[in-house]
Amino acid sequence: MNSSIQDLETPRLLIDNAALLQNIREAQQTANRYGVALRPHVKTHKCLEIARLQIDEGAAGVTASKVGEALVFIENGFGSVTVAYPLISDVKLDRLLKSASDFRTDLRLIVDSLEGVAAVAAAARRNAIAVSVFLKVDVGLHRCGVREDDPRIVDLVRRIKSEGIAFAGLLSHAGHIYRATNREEASAVARGELAILGRVKKKLEDEGIEVAEVSVGSTPGLLSSDSYDGITENRPGNYVFLDLNIVRMNLVSPRRVALSVLTTIVSLNRDFYIVDAGSKVLTSDVGAHGQSGVSGYGIAFPLEGYPESDGMIIERLSEEHGFVKRSSNLRLGSKLRIIPNHACPVANLGSHFVVLEDERAIEEWPVAARACVL
Ligand SMILES: Cc1ncc(COP(=O)(O)O)c(C=O)c1O
Repeated sequence: MNSSIQDLETPRLLIDNAALLQNIREAQQTANRYGVALRPHVKTHKCLEIARLQIDEGAAGVTASKVGEALVFIENGFGSVTVAYPLISDVKLDRLLKSASDFRTDLRLIVDSLEGVAAVAAAARRNAIAVSVFLKVDVGLHRCGVREDDPRIVDLVRRIKSEGIAFAGLLSHAGHIYRATNREEASAVARGELAILGRVKKKLEDEGIEVAEVSVGSTPGLLSSDSYDGITENRPGNYVFLDLNIVRMNLVSPRRVALSVLTTIVSLNRDFYIVDAGSKVLTSDVGAHGQSGVSGYGIAFPLEGYPESDGMIIERLSEEHGFVKRSSNLRLGSKLRIIPNHACPVANLGSHFVVLEDERAIEEWPVAARACVL
């Protein structure tokens, strides 16, 4: 493949290869500087080619959220996979553990309930495979995990060990960090996360339980944290692409965003350019975890000047159409590049990424684990 952006059919997912490589390199450098392992979350890109770049740069393995997603990476030879999602279903566990056993994968899971521990232990016995398990700690998002004052914490870990499963340590995801509006606020959330994990670790150590690993994971944390005290691993996902969510938090400039959506103006009216990227391409995501001040569904830029020129807000979406607020005089058929609000679900809706180098399309990479929601 070697064509200009102008010649590409739309809508298409574009990857700016230089930005992608820079994002991968700098995250690994940050992890190396702080002496922590990087285990990127592949839910962002779902792409084998990108995961290989991350591993080649020094990542210790990959993280997935869905069993189906994890299987794509296991079956393509990724040797160490964490599924950072509470698995309580025998069917899902058997599918995952059987594959991990066939491919001799180092499989790491999370639990936050006694039922979860029992389900993992039974599946490990059925599939004759050793897995290691993290205790998921709720550090403020209040989604999954045990809160630090939960009286079950020590019992849960004792049960993991008494079931003969390796206890890996503690794992958290501070999703509420997306409510921060600047670096200081984000790094304060990251510091709070470290403090909570430190207290839970101490509680377990006071009971004579060794906590070998402490795993955090979020892109705002990666970009804002100035301390990794007590942390052994980071599992960021979004950092490979970045998006408007992260730009709006003032953590990066739009230049660093590696994923954009190429679209065409297919109709014009007095107020809007109507483009061929609607909710089927951009999703209806308006910001993560209660992020404030988000309006619209992305920012569209003319090709010339992307992404520094004045962007136009995508005010509305229907399934096949985006309503781009007009602020210039572009012609019908002109192409625009959109930086989406949230890169991860957008990637899940595409079948391929078109890779750009020096503004030319050079390759297509399949989104191999797209729609793997089971
Ligand atoms: C459990 C878990 N770990 C890590 C991540 C990565 O976070 P981010 O995409 O902010 O890097 C996520 C994202 O949702 C997550 O749910």
